[in-house]
Amino acid sequence: MLRTHTCGELNPKNIGEKVTLCGWMQKSRDLGGMTFIDLRDRYGITQLVFNMQTNAGLCEKARKLGREFVISVKGTVEERSNKNLKMPTGEIEIIVDKFDVLNRSKLPPFTIEDNTDGGEELRMKYRYLDLRRNPLRKNMELRHKMTSETRNYLDLQNFIEIETPYLIKSTPEGARDFVVPSRMNQGEFYALPQSPQTFKQLLMIAGYDRYYQLVKCFRDEDLRADRQPEFTQIDCEMSFVTQDDILNTFEGLIKHLFEKVKNINVEDFPIISYDEAMKYYGTDKPDIRFEMKFVELNNLAKGSGFKVFDDAELIVGICAEACGNYSRKQLDKLTDFVRKPQIGAKGLVYVKYNEDGSLKSSVDKFFDQKALKTWAEAFNANPGDLLLILSGETGHIRKALCELRLEMGNRLELRDKNKFRPLWVVDFPLLEWDEENSRFHAMHHPFTSPKAEDIQLLNSEPGKVRANAYDLVINGVEIGGGSIRIFNKELQKKMFKALGFSEEQAQEQFGFLMNAFEYGAPPHGGIALGFDRLVALFGGSDSIRDFIAFPKNNSGRDVMIDSPSTISKEQLDELKLRIVKE
Ligand code: AMO
Repeated sequence: MLRTHTCGELNPKNIGEKVTLCGWMQKSRDLGGMTFIDLRDRYGITQLVFNMQTNAGLCEKARKLGREFVISVKGTVEERSNKNLKMPTGEIEIIVDKFDVLNRSKLPPFTIEDNTDGGEELRMKYRYLDLRRNPLRKNMELRHKMTSETRNYLDLQNFIEIETPYLIKSTPEGARDFVVPSRMNQGEFYALPQSPQTFKQLLMIAGYDRYYQLVKCFRDEDLRADRQPEFTQIDCEMSFVTQDDILNTFEGLIKHLFEKVKNINVEDFPIISYDEAMKYYGTDKPDIRFEMKFVELNNLAKGSGFKVFDDAELIVGICAEACGNYSRKQLDKLTDFVRKPQIGAKGLVYVKYNEDGSLKSSVDKFFDQKALKTWAEAFNANPGDLLLILSGETGHIRKALCELRLEMGNRLELRDKNKFRPLWVVDFPLLEWDEENSRFHAMHHPFTSPKAEDIQLLNSEPGKVRANAYDLVINGVEIGGGSIRIFNKELQKKMFKALGFSEEQAQEQFGFLMNAFEYGAPPHGGIALGFDRLVALFGGSDSIRDFIAFPKNNSGRDVMIDSPSTISKEQLDELKLRIVKE
């Protein structure tokens, strides 16, 4: 070993010891006869001292060290006269006898400090330098801890980790596939897995009744803060289980992670149906850190001559507690917010519940005090509260009110990053109508089983069929999803038919799975958790990028290695591929 200790471990117990440390020169300070250097490695920072009086030559040499030089230092641990109790090594320093420069460094393009001066693009280009900074190092350590605690928990529950292939055939998970041309099979392509879905089901048929894998998945979709083209799932599948068994097992995993990684005991997860989630929160991923549930007013607010309400399919609102004193300007801002094109509401109706019990609304012309009082009661509102009401087409208006609810949650600081409120959303619809292609597609994926009592609707009213599918949502983020699967060939065929596949197409694409169902497929189900999202949530961030060592930028590029890139003519020829320029 080139070192006896790391830069994060020496303390007063080591005083008097001769030590050798290695690390990067973080910064240097010359104070008259003394030079102090902060030596940094992954574990921390240790202060080095060079004394002009006792060793002028060494001190001169130390003054020439540049930022990020890699050095090896021999010296003695001494007690510091000026202690820094905020640092683990803040009570000691090293009186250096000798040091070697192991490697020089060019001046880094940005400072390697907690608050760096480097812009996003520059830091992405020099990601290996960015990764030296504490915030990113902590994120990587958090990720590692969560990986190992996930494995600990699942191993103890008798799961076995099995790797599935990356060069596969398309899995219909809803996004576009990344494809890889095959040299040996000209004109043919592999697809990178959007998830190991079909393989994990085949593993159940093979009898491996509890499988898991921390696995890379690939999806060619537009990037967002919580999406990367390659991301990691905690992917799992179990045989001979009910939906409750799966929810319990993975609620257990999440609780285990919160306890071991954050020392937090989270409460039991509420379970709500998809229909309830849409009705009360306008989304299938509600943030339940705060209440502010939707209240529908169709029965109370129609028929008073206010055309906007009379013509609306849904009149629905929220009650913002203690916001009854909002000024005209504040209310105008909220109106502007809901009118933004991304939100798309036409306007906002408000009712102020004054402290004296009177009510003042933006629709006083149409509704008297008595009518407004019935609304306030429906909301369970108190004097001092503010009712915010939208109306229009159900799906559209629920979505808009969901955004307004989150906005009010932000304004009222109800979305505390240190508070975690997981829940299960269950009973999703099996199919979703795809306007663009005028056909149904699977809301989860085509292997999800319909609820037994709804199977008879599959031909007549496919949109009404509910699925044995569930999502795990934490603080408004979809962390995971899964389902109890179809394990019977005939039902699987029916499902493909409902999705508009011909029998030949279904056999051609998924014959391998349907054939396998004929060889003793056990009942099974599973779930996949988005690991990057889970780590980011634990790390208090909405963006997953800084919890992945080498992520892609918003255009799907790795600017550090400059990828994607063109390939040589020889490679193209070998693959018999031709680039057609438009
Ligand atoms: P699903 O498609 O819901 O289910 O994916 C599971 C979870 O993966 C995360 N996720 C992503 N994270 C980062 N970037 C992305 N582009 C991305 N896409 C998805 C989400 C999501 O909840 N095979 C099924 C699971 C099953 O049925 O068992 C599946 O992949 O957190």
